[in-house]
Amino acid sequence: MSQKILLDKINIPGIKTYEVYRQNGGYASVEKALKTLTPDEVVEEVKTSGLRGRGGAGFPAGMKWSFIDKKSGKPRHLVCNADESEPGTFKDRYLMEFIPHLLIEGMITSSYALGANLSYIYIRGEYMWVFKILERAIAEAKAAGFLGKNILGSGFDLELHVHCGAGAYICGEETALIESLEGKRGNPRIKPPFPAVSGLWANPTVVNNVETIAAVPWIVNNSGADYAKIGIGRSTGTKLISASGHIKNPGVYEIELGLSVYEFMNSDEYLGGMSSDRPLKAFVPGGSSVPVLPAHLIYKTAAGEDRLMSYESLSDGGFATGSMLGSGGFIVYNDTSCIVRNTWNFSRFYHHESCGQCTPCREGTGWMEKVLHRIENGHGREEDIDLLLSIQSKIEGNTICPLGDAAAWPVAAAIRHFRDEFEYHIRFPEKIKKRDHFVAEPFEKVKHLVSKETV
Ligand SMILES: Cc1cc2nc3c(=O)[nH]c(=O)nc-3n(C[C@H](O)[C@H](O)[C@H](O)COP(=O)(O)O)c2cc1C
Ligand code: SF4
Repeated sequence: MSQKILLDKINIPGIKTYEVYRQNGGYASVEKALKTLTPDEVVEEVKTSGLRGRGGAGFPAGMKWSFIDKKSGKPRHLVCNADESEPGTFKDRYLMEFIPHLLIEGMITSSYALGANLSYIYIRGEYMWVFKILERAIAEAKAAGFLGKNILGSGFDLELHVHCGAGAYICGEETALIESLEGKRGNPRIKPPFPAVSGLWANPTVVNNVETIAAVPWIVNNSGADYAKIGIGRSTGTKLISASGHIKNPGVYEIELGLSVYEFMNSDEYLGGMSSDRPLKAFVPGGSSVPVLPAHLIYKTAAGEDRLMSYESLSDGGFATGSMLGSGGFIVYNDTSCIVRNTWNFSRFYHHESCGQCTPCREGTGWMEKVLHRIENGHGREEDIDLLLSIQSKIEGNTICPLGDAAAWPVAAAIRHFRDEFEYHIRFPEKIKKRDHFVAEPFEKVKHLVSKETV
Protein backbone atom coordinates (compact mmCIF):
# COMPACT_ATOMS: atom_id res chain seq x y z
CA MET A 1 0.00 0.00 0.00
CA SER A 2 1.39 3.40 -1.01
CA GLN A 3 2.08 5.99 1.65
CA LYS A 4 -0.47 8.80 1.54
CA ILE A 5 0.41 12.33 2.52
CA LEU A 6 -2.24 14.39 0.73
CA LEU A 7 -5.36 12.27 0.94
CA ASP A 8 -4.59 10.36 4.16
CA LYS A 9 -7.22 12.32 6.13
CA ILE A 10 -9.77 12.78 3.39
CA ASN A 11 -12.25 10.26 4.81
CA ILE A 12 -12.37 11.76 8.31
CA PRO A 13 -15.96 12.96 8.81
CA GLY A 14 -16.10 16.76 8.84
CA ILE A 15 -12.51 17.26 7.61
CA LYS A 16 -13.79 20.03 5.32
CA THR A 17 -14.32 22.20 8.40
CA TYR A 18 -11.60 24.15 10.18
CA GLU A 19 -12.38 22.55 13.55
CA VAL A 20 -12.00 18.95 12.46
CA TYR A 21 -9.01 19.74 10.24
CA ARG A 22 -7.29 21.49 13.14
CA GLN A 23 -8.12 18.66 15.60
CA ASN A 24 -6.38 16.31 13.19
CA GLY A 25 -3.09 18.18 13.11
CA GLY A 26 -4.09 20.84 10.58
CA TYR A 27 -2.11 24.11 10.37
CA ALA A 28 0.84 22.59 12.25
CA SER A 29 3.14 23.54 9.35
CA VAL A 30 2.10 27.19 9.68
CA GLU A 31 2.92 27.12 13.40
CA LYS A 32 6.23 25.38 12.82
CA ALA A 33 7.30 27.63 9.94
CA LEU A 34 6.27 30.95 11.45
CA LYS A 35 7.55 30.20 14.94
CA THR A 36 10.72 28.19 14.32
CA LEU A 37 11.91 28.60 10.70
CA THR A 38 13.06 31.50 8.57
CA PRO A 39 11.47 31.85 5.11
CA ASP A 40 14.74 30.73 3.51
CA GLU A 41 14.80 27.62 5.70
CA VAL A 42 11.34 26.68 4.39
CA VAL A 43 12.59 27.19 0.82
CA GLU A 44 15.58 24.95 1.61
CA GLU A 45 13.31 22.16 2.92
CA VAL A 46 11.24 22.30 -0.28
CA LYS A 47 14.42 22.23 -2.36
CA THR A 48 15.72 19.21 -0.42
CA SER A 49 12.39 17.41 -0.89
CA GLY A 50 12.87 17.31 -4.66
CA LEU A 51 9.15 18.18 -5.03
CA ARG A 52 8.39 18.84 -8.69
CA GLY A 53 5.55 21.00 -9.93
CA ARG A 54 2.40 18.90 -10.32
CA GLY A 55 0.76 21.15 -12.91
CA GLY A 56 2.34 19.28 -15.82
CA ALA A 57 5.88 20.38 -16.55
CA GLY A 58 7.44 18.87 -13.41
CA PHE A 59 9.77 21.81 -12.72
CA PRO A 60 11.42 21.57 -9.23
CA ALA A 61 9.33 23.71 -6.87
CA GLY A 62 12.16 24.71 -4.52
CA MET A 63 14.27 25.89 -7.45
CA LYS A 64 11.36 27.95 -8.80
CA TRP A 65 10.92 29.51 -5.37
CA SER A 66 14.61 30.40 -5.18
CA PHE A 67 14.30 32.36 -8.48
CA ILE A 68 11.79 34.84 -7.01
CA ASP A 69 13.26 38.30 -7.03
CA LYS A 70 13.72 39.31 -3.39
CA LYS A 71 16.14 42.15 -4.13
CA SER A 72 13.87 44.58 -6.00
CA GLY A 73 11.90 45.32 -2.86
CA LYS A 74 8.64 44.97 -4.81
CA PRO A 75 5.69 43.13 -3.24
CA ARG A 76 5.73 39.40 -4.02
CA HIS A 77 2.83 37.10 -4.75
CA LEU A 78 2.05 33.42 -4.66
CA VAL A 79 -0.64 32.37 -7.12
CA CYS A 80 -2.14 28.91 -6.91
CA ASN A 81 -3.13 27.51 -10.27
CA ALA A 82 -6.47 25.77 -9.75
CA ASP A 83 -7.61 26.23 -13.34
CA GLU A 84 -7.48 22.46 -13.98
CA SER A 85 -8.95 22.30 -17.47
CA GLU A 86 -6.77 19.62 -19.06
CA PRO A 87 -9.09 16.89 -20.39
CA GLY A 88 -8.66 13.80 -18.22
CA THR A 89 -7.49 15.71 -15.14
CA PHE A 90 -9.70 16.25 -12.08
CA LYS A 91 -7.43 15.66 -9.07
CA ASP A 92 -7.11 19.29 -7.95
CA ARG A 93 -10.89 19.56 -7.78
CA TYR A 94 -11.02 16.46 -5.58
CA LEU A 95 -8.43 17.79 -3.17
CA MET A 96 -9.99 21.26 -2.92
CA GLU A 97 -13.51 19.92 -2.58
CA PHE A 98 -12.83 17.35 0.12
CA ILE A 99 -9.88 18.75 2.09
CA PRO A 100 -9.84 22.49 1.32
CA HIS A 101 -7.88 23.49 4.41
CA LEU A 102 -4.86 21.51 3.19
CA LEU A 103 -4.56 23.93 0.28
CA ILE A 104 -5.15 26.97 2.50
CA GLU A 105 -2.49 25.71 4.92
CA GLY A 106 -0.08 25.14 2.04
CA MET A 107 -0.78 28.65 0.72
CA ILE A 108 0.03 30.24 4.09
CA THR A 109 3.24 28.28 4.67
CA SER A 110 4.39 28.77 1.06
CA SER A 111 3.53 32.50 1.06
CA TYR A 112 5.62 32.86 4.23
CA ALA A 113 8.55 31.15 2.49
CA LEU A 114 8.29 33.50 -0.49
CA GLY A 115 7.65 36.65 1.54
CA ALA A 116 4.29 37.12 -0.17
CA ASN A 117 1.68 39.14 1.72
CA LEU A 118 -1.02 39.01 -0.96
CA SER A 119 -1.73 35.64 -2.55
CA TYR A 120 -4.40 34.21 -4.82
CA ILE A 121 -6.04 30.96 -5.75
CA TYR A 122 -7.19 31.14 -9.40
CA ILE A 123 -9.91 28.55 -9.90
CA ARG A 124 -11.66 27.50 -13.10
CA GLY A 125 -15.09 29.04 -13.59
CA GLU A 126 -16.85 25.68 -13.83
CA TYR A 127 -15.77 24.82 -10.27
CA MET A 128 -18.16 27.34 -8.71
CA TRP A 129 -19.21 25.05 -5.87
CA VAL A 130 -15.53 24.47 -5.01
CA PHE A 131 -14.95 28.23 -5.15
CA LYS A 132 -17.56 28.55 -2.40
CA ILE A 133 -15.94 25.78 -0.35
CA LEU A 134 -12.59 27.60 -0.56
CA GLU A 135 -14.13 30.93 0.38
CA ARG A 136 -15.65 29.32 3.45
CA ALA A 137 -12.34 27.68 4.39
CA ILE A 138 -10.49 31.00 4.01
CA ALA A 139 -13.04 32.76 6.25
CA GLU A 140 -12.63 30.00 8.87
CA ALA A 141 -8.83 30.21 8.74
CA LYS A 142 -9.00 33.98 9.06
CA ALA A 143 -11.34 33.77 12.05
CA ALA A 144 -8.87 31.39 13.69
CA GLY A 145 -5.99 33.84 13.22
CA PHE A 146 -4.17 31.99 10.41
CA LEU A 147 -4.77 34.77 7.88
CA GLY A 148 -4.75 38.53 8.12
CA LYS A 149 -2.35 40.72 10.11
CA ASN A 150 0.42 39.45 12.37
CA ILE A 151 -0.39 35.75 12.01
CA LEU A 152 0.29 33.90 15.31
CA GLY A 153 2.10 36.99 16.55
CA SER A 154 4.91 36.37 14.07
CA GLY A 155 4.70 39.73 12.32
CA PHE A 156 3.81 37.96 9.06
CA ASP A 157 0.69 39.31 7.27
CA LEU A 158 -1.19 37.49 4.55
CA GLU A 159 -4.35 38.23 2.59
CA LEU A 160 -5.60 35.33 0.50
CA HIS A 161 -8.27 35.61 -2.20
CA VAL A 162 -9.95 33.11 -4.50
CA HIS A 163 -10.47 34.37 -8.04
CA CYS A 164 -12.76 32.65 -10.51
CA GLY A 165 -11.85 32.16 -14.16
CA ALA A 166 -14.45 32.21 -16.92
CA GLY A 167 -13.91 28.78 -18.45
CA ALA A 168 -10.88 29.20 -20.72
CA TYR A 169 -8.29 26.41 -20.79
CA ILE A 170 -5.59 28.88 -21.80
CA CYS A 171 -5.97 30.66 -18.45
CA GLY A 172 -4.22 27.64 -16.91
CA GLU A 173 -1.00 28.72 -18.65
CA GLU A 174 0.68 30.71 -15.93
CA THR A 175 1.17 34.02 -17.74
CA ALA A 176 -2.34 33.92 -19.26
CA LEU A 177 -3.58 33.24 -15.75
CA ILE A 178 -1.75 36.33 -14.49
CA GLU A 179 -3.23 38.46 -17.30
CA SER A 180 -6.69 37.16 -16.43
CA LEU A 181 -6.12 37.87 -12.73
CA GLU A 182 -5.22 41.44 -13.70
CA GLY A 183 -8.62 41.70 -15.36
CA LYS A 184 -7.42 41.36 -18.95
CA ARG A 185 -8.04 38.84 -21.72
CA GLY A 186 -6.10 35.65 -20.89
CA ASN A 187 -3.35 35.84 -23.52
CA PRO A 188 -0.03 34.19 -22.61
CA ARG A 189 2.89 36.59 -22.30
CA ILE A 190 6.17 36.36 -24.16
CA LYS A 191 8.92 35.15 -21.80
CA PRO A 192 11.35 36.36 -20.53
CA PRO A 193 10.66 38.09 -18.24
CA PHE A 194 9.45 35.11 -16.23
CA PRO A 195 6.86 35.61 -13.48
CA ALA A 196 9.52 35.15 -10.78
CA VAL A 197 10.89 38.52 -11.91
CA SER A 198 7.81 40.22 -13.38
CA GLY A 199 4.48 38.51 -12.80
CA LEU A 200 1.26 39.81 -11.29
CA TRP A 201 1.19 43.63 -11.69
CA ALA A 202 4.85 43.35 -12.72
CA ASN A 203 5.71 42.07 -9.23
CA PRO A 204 7.79 38.93 -8.57
CA THR A 205 5.32 36.03 -8.59
CA VAL A 206 5.39 32.27 -8.18
CA VAL A 207 2.64 30.25 -9.81
CA ASN A 208 2.23 26.72 -8.49
CA ASN A 209 -0.32 23.98 -8.99
CA VAL A 210 -2.79 23.04 -6.20
CA GLU A 211 -1.14 19.68 -5.57
CA THR A 212 2.35 21.21 -5.41
CA ILE A 213 1.25 23.67 -2.73
CA ALA A 214 -0.70 21.01 -0.84
CA ALA A 215 2.49 18.93 -0.47
CA VAL A 216 4.31 21.73 1.37
CA PRO A 217 2.69 21.22 4.84
CA TRP A 218 3.89 17.60 4.98
CA ILE A 219 7.40 18.62 3.91
CA VAL A 220 7.58 21.32 6.59
CA ASN A 221 6.04 19.11 9.31
CA ASN A 222 8.39 16.22 8.56
CA SER A 223 11.37 17.28 6.46
CA GLY A 224 12.46 17.68 2.88
CA ALA A 225 14.77 14.71 3.38
CA ASP A 226 11.87 12.50 4.52
CA TYR A 227 9.83 13.53 1.48
CA ALA A 228 12.75 12.72 -0.80
CA LYS A 229 12.78 9.16 0.60
CA ILE A 230 9.32 8.58 -0.88
CA GLY A 231 9.22 7.81 -4.59
CA ILE A 232 12.01 6.89 -6.93
CA GLY A 233 15.09 8.81 -8.12
CA ARG A 234 14.22 12.35 -9.17
CA SER A 235 10.51 11.49 -8.98
CA THR A 236 10.14 12.08 -5.26
CA GLY A 237 6.99 11.97 -3.18
CA THR A 238 3.47 11.00 -4.05
CA LYS A 239 1.33 11.98 -7.02
CA LEU A 240 -2.40 12.35 -7.46
CA ILE A 241 -3.65 10.53 -10.52
CA SER A 242 -7.04 11.15 -12.15
CA ALA A 243 -8.00 7.82 -13.69
CA SER A 244 -10.73 7.45 -16.31
CA GLY A 245 -11.75 5.37 -19.29
CA HIS A 246 -12.30 1.63 -19.64
CA ILE A 247 -11.22 0.64 -16.13
CA LYS A 248 -13.11 -0.91 -13.23
CA ASN A 249 -12.41 1.79 -10.65
CA PRO A 250 -12.16 5.28 -12.12
CA GLY A 251 -11.34 8.05 -9.64
CA VAL A 252 -8.55 10.01 -7.97
CA TYR A 253 -5.66 8.04 -6.44
CA GLU A 254 -2.63 9.08 -4.47
CA ILE A 255 0.29 6.87 -5.46
CA GLU A 256 3.93 6.76 -4.50
CA LEU A 257 5.92 7.68 -7.58
CA GLY A 258 7.70 4.57 -8.82
CA LEU A 259 4.68 2.26 -8.60
CA SER A 260 4.58 0.03 -11.66
CA VAL A 261 2.00 0.90 -14.31
CA TYR A 262 0.96 -2.77 -14.26
CA GLU A 263 0.15 -2.69 -10.56
CA PHE A 264 -1.62 0.65 -10.86
CA MET A 265 -3.75 -0.65 -13.71
CA ASN A 266 -4.54 -4.09 -12.37
CA SER A 267 -4.48 -4.23 -8.60
CA ASP A 268 -7.77 -3.93 -6.71
CA GLU A 269 -6.26 -1.17 -4.57
CA TYR A 270 -6.15 1.00 -7.69
CA LEU A 271 -7.86 0.68 -11.05
CA GLY A 272 -8.85 -2.99 -10.73
CA GLY A 273 -8.12 -3.85 -14.37
CA MET A 274 -10.25 -3.32 -17.45
CA SER A 275 -13.96 -2.61 -17.03
CA SER A 276 -14.97 -5.50 -19.32
CA ASP A 277 -13.29 -8.38 -21.09
CA ARG A 278 -12.39 -6.13 -24.04
CA PRO A 279 -8.59 -5.85 -24.20
CA LEU A 280 -6.41 -2.85 -23.45
CA LYS A 281 -5.62 -0.90 -26.61
CA ALA A 282 -3.95 2.35 -25.59
CA PHE A 283 -3.41 4.79 -22.75
CA VAL A 284 -2.66 8.42 -22.18
CA PRO A 285 -0.75 8.78 -18.89
CA GLY A 286 -0.73 12.53 -18.33
CA GLY A 287 -3.79 14.29 -19.73
CA SER A 288 -4.80 15.06 -23.31
CA SER A 289 -1.58 16.98 -24.08
CA VAL A 290 0.81 14.04 -23.81
CA PRO A 291 1.49 11.33 -26.40
CA VAL A 292 -0.80 8.29 -26.47
CA LEU A 293 0.93 4.90 -26.15
CA PRO A 294 -0.18 1.57 -27.65
CA ALA A 295 -0.73 -1.54 -25.51
CA HIS A 296 2.73 -3.05 -26.07
CA LEU A 297 4.46 0.05 -24.65
CA ILE A 298 2.29 0.44 -21.56
CA TYR A 299 3.64 -2.09 -19.07
CA LYS A 300 7.16 -2.30 -20.53
CA THR A 301 9.42 0.30 -22.06
CA ALA A 302 10.91 -0.32 -25.50
CA ALA A 303 14.07 -1.43 -23.64
CA GLY A 304 12.04 -4.16 -21.95
CA GLU A 305 12.06 -2.61 -18.47
CA ASP A 306 8.98 -2.34 -16.29
CA ARG A 307 7.19 0.93 -17.01
CA LEU A 308 6.79 2.89 -13.76
CA MET A 309 4.58 5.76 -12.71
CA SER A 310 7.44 8.28 -12.62
CA TYR A 311 8.54 11.27 -14.69
CA GLU A 312 11.53 9.37 -16.04
CA SER A 313 10.00 5.98 -16.79
CA LEU A 314 6.89 7.33 -18.51
CA SER A 315 9.09 9.39 -20.80
CA ASP A 316 11.60 6.60 -21.37
CA GLY A 317 12.26 6.24 -25.08
CA GLY A 318 11.44 9.89 -25.82
CA PHE A 319 8.43 10.48 -28.01
CA ALA A 320 9.37 7.51 -30.22
CA THR A 321 8.27 4.99 -27.58
CA GLY A 322 7.49 7.02 -24.46
CA SER A 323 5.09 9.66 -23.21
CA MET A 324 4.93 11.96 -20.13
CA LEU A 325 3.54 11.98 -16.60
CA GLY A 326 2.12 15.47 -17.30
CA SER A 327 -0.73 16.39 -14.99
CA GLY A 328 -1.46 12.75 -14.15
CA GLY A 329 -4.64 12.43 -16.24
CA PHE A 330 -4.57 8.67 -16.83
CA ILE A 331 -6.98 7.70 -19.63
CA VAL A 332 -7.40 4.05 -20.58
CA TYR A 333 -8.85 2.82 -23.89
CA ASN A 334 -10.04 -0.66 -24.81
CA ASP A 335 -10.30 -1.99 -28.36
CA THR A 336 -13.72 -0.43 -28.99
CA SER A 337 -12.10 3.02 -28.95
CA CYS A 338 -11.28 4.74 -32.19
CA ILE A 339 -7.92 6.48 -32.03
CA VAL A 340 -8.79 8.71 -34.99
CA ARG A 341 -11.97 9.88 -33.32
CA ASN A 342 -10.15 10.43 -30.03
CA THR A 343 -7.43 12.45 -31.77
CA TRP A 344 -10.03 14.53 -33.61
CA ASN A 345 -11.82 15.16 -30.33
CA PHE A 346 -8.62 16.39 -28.66
CA SER A 347 -7.83 18.56 -31.71
CA ARG A 348 -11.28 20.09 -31.58
CA PHE A 349 -10.59 21.05 -27.97
CA TYR A 350 -7.21 22.67 -28.72
CA HIS A 351 -8.60 24.57 -31.70
CA HIS A 352 -11.42 25.89 -29.55
CA GLU A 353 -9.06 26.87 -26.72
CA SER A 354 -6.26 28.46 -28.77
CA CYS A 355 -6.04 32.14 -27.81
CA GLY A 356 -5.16 33.01 -31.40
CA GLN A 357 -2.04 35.08 -30.82
CA CYS A 358 0.36 32.84 -32.81
CA THR A 359 -0.39 31.98 -36.42
CA PRO A 360 0.90 28.37 -36.28
CA CYS A 361 -1.36 27.57 -33.33
CA ARG A 362 -4.39 29.63 -34.39
CA GLU A 363 -4.43 28.31 -37.96
CA GLY A 364 -2.73 24.93 -37.45
CA THR A 365 -5.10 23.70 -34.73
CA GLY A 366 -8.02 24.54 -37.02
CA TRP A 367 -6.48 22.73 -39.98
CA MET A 368 -5.72 19.66 -37.91
CA GLU A 369 -9.26 19.56 -36.60
CA LYS A 370 -10.66 19.90 -40.11
CA VAL A 371 -8.45 17.19 -41.64
CA LEU A 372 -9.06 14.80 -38.75
CA HIS A 373 -12.79 15.43 -38.98
CA ARG A 374 -12.88 14.47 -42.65
CA ILE A 375 -10.81 11.33 -42.07
CA GLU A 376 -13.06 10.27 -39.18
CA ASN A 377 -16.17 10.91 -41.25
CA GLY A 378 -15.12 8.92 -44.28
CA HIS A 379 -13.91 11.74 -46.53
CA GLY A 380 -10.17 11.39 -45.93
CA ARG A 381 -7.51 11.30 -48.65
CA GLU A 382 -4.29 9.25 -48.68
CA GLU A 383 -2.16 12.40 -48.46
CA ASP A 384 -4.03 13.64 -45.37
CA ILE A 385 -1.89 11.64 -42.97
CA ASP A 386 1.34 13.29 -44.11
CA LEU A 387 -0.48 16.62 -44.25
CA LEU A 388 -1.34 16.22 -40.55
CA LEU A 389 2.29 15.41 -39.73
CA SER A 390 3.41 18.46 -41.67
CA ILE A 391 0.97 20.78 -39.86
CA GLN A 392 1.83 19.49 -36.41
CA SER A 393 5.56 19.83 -37.06
CA LYS A 394 5.07 23.48 -38.01
CA ILE A 395 3.21 24.23 -34.78
CA GLU A 396 5.61 22.39 -32.45
CA GLY A 397 8.20 24.74 -30.94
CA ASN A 398 6.99 27.77 -32.92
CA THR A 399 4.55 29.35 -30.53
CA ILE A 400 4.46 31.71 -27.56
CA CYS A 401 3.13 29.15 -25.10
CA PRO A 402 3.10 25.34 -24.89
CA LEU A 403 -0.55 25.01 -25.96
CA GLY A 404 0.76 24.70 -29.50
CA ASP A 405 2.94 21.71 -28.52
CA ALA A 406 0.07 20.25 -26.52
CA ALA A 407 -2.08 20.33 -29.66
CA ALA A 408 0.66 18.96 -31.93
CA TRP A 409 2.04 16.06 -29.84
CA PRO A 410 -1.13 13.95 -29.55
CA VAL A 411 -1.63 14.08 -33.34
CA ALA A 412 1.97 13.03 -34.04
CA ALA A 413 1.80 10.23 -31.46
CA ALA A 414 -1.51 8.89 -32.76
CA ILE A 415 -0.09 8.65 -36.29
CA ARG A 416 3.24 7.27 -35.03
CA HIS A 417 1.61 4.37 -33.21
CA PHE A 418 -1.71 3.91 -35.02
CA ARG A 419 -1.01 4.94 -38.63
CA ASP A 420 -2.73 1.83 -39.97
CA GLU A 421 -5.94 2.90 -38.24
CA PHE A 422 -5.84 6.23 -40.08
CA GLU A 423 -5.22 4.36 -43.34
CA TYR A 424 -8.16 2.08 -42.62
CA HIS A 425 -10.43 5.11 -42.18
CA ILE A 426 -9.30 6.52 -45.52
CA ARG A 427 -9.46 3.25 -47.48
CA PHE A 428 -12.71 1.90 -46.05
CA PRO A 429 -14.93 4.95 -45.55
CA GLU A 430 -18.13 2.92 -45.66
CA LYS A 431 -16.96 0.84 -42.69
CA ILE A 432 -16.29 3.77 -40.42
CA LYS A 433 -19.36 5.82 -41.27
CA LYS A 434 -21.25 3.84 -38.66
CA ARG A 435 -20.19 5.57 -35.45
CA ASP A 436 -19.65 2.32 -33.56
CA HIS A 437 -17.21 0.88 -36.09
CA PHE A 438 -14.75 -0.71 -33.64
CA VAL A 439 -17.46 -1.89 -31.29
CA ALA A 440 -18.94 -4.08 -33.98
CA GLU A 441 -15.59 -4.98 -35.54
CA PRO A 442 -12.45 -4.39 -33.41
CA PHE A 443 -9.60 -3.02 -35.48
CA GLU A 444 -7.47 -6.11 -34.83
CA LYS A 445 -10.00 -8.13 -36.86
CA VAL A 446 -10.00 -5.83 -39.89
CA LYS A 447 -6.39 -4.69 -39.78
CA HIS A 448 -5.36 -7.10 -42.52
CA LEU A 449 -7.53 -5.15 -45.00
CA VAL A 450 -5.37 -2.06 -44.69
CA SER A 451 -2.58 -3.09 -47.03
CA LYS A 452 -2.97 -1.15 -50.28
CA GLU A 453 -3.02 -4.34 -52.37
CA THR A 454 -6.26 -5.50 -50.74
CA VAL A 455 -8.13 -2.23 -51.31
C1 LIG B 1 -2.39 25.61 -22.09
C2 LIG B 1 -1.87 25.33 -20.72
C3 LIG B 1 -2.76 25.04 -19.69
C4 LIG B 1 -2.28 24.81 -18.41
N1 LIG B 1 -3.18 24.50 -17.44
C5 LIG B 1 -2.74 24.31 -16.17
C6 LIG B 1 -3.66 24.05 -15.13
O1 LIG B 1 -4.87 23.98 -15.32
N2 LIG B 1 -3.16 23.86 -13.87
C7 LIG B 1 -1.81 23.94 -13.61
O2 LIG B 1 -1.40 23.81 -12.46
N3 LIG B 1 -0.92 24.18 -14.59
C8 LIG B 1 -1.35 24.38 -15.85
N4 LIG B 1 -0.45 24.67 -16.83
C9 LIG B 1 0.98 24.81 -16.45
C10 LIG B 1 1.24 26.21 -15.91
O3 LIG B 1 1.61 27.06 -16.98
C11 LIG B 1 2.38 26.23 -14.88
O4 LIG B 1 3.49 25.59 -15.43
C12 LIG B 1 2.02 25.55 -13.57
O5 LIG B 1 0.86 26.11 -13.00
C13 LIG B 1 3.16 25.70 -12.60
O6 LIG B 1 2.88 25.04 -11.40
P1 LIG B 1 3.78 23.82 -10.92
O7 LIG B 1 5.21 24.24 -11.09
O8 LIG B 1 3.40 23.65 -9.49
O9 LIG B 1 3.44 22.66 -11.76
C14 LIG B 1 -0.89 24.88 -18.14
C15 LIG B 1 -0.01 25.15 -19.18
C16 LIG B 1 -0.50 25.38 -20.45
C17 LIG B 1 0.47 25.68 -21.54
S1 SF4 C 1 0.44 28.82 -28.67
FE1 SF4 C 1 -1.74 29.09 -29.08
S2 SF4 C 1 -2.64 29.41 -27.09
FE2 SF4 C 1 -0.43 29.74 -26.83
S3 SF4 C 1 -0.13 31.92 -27.15
FE3 SF4 C 1 0.09 31.00 -29.15
S4 SF4 C 1 -1.96 31.07 -30.07
FE4 SF4 C 1 -2.18 31.43 -27.89
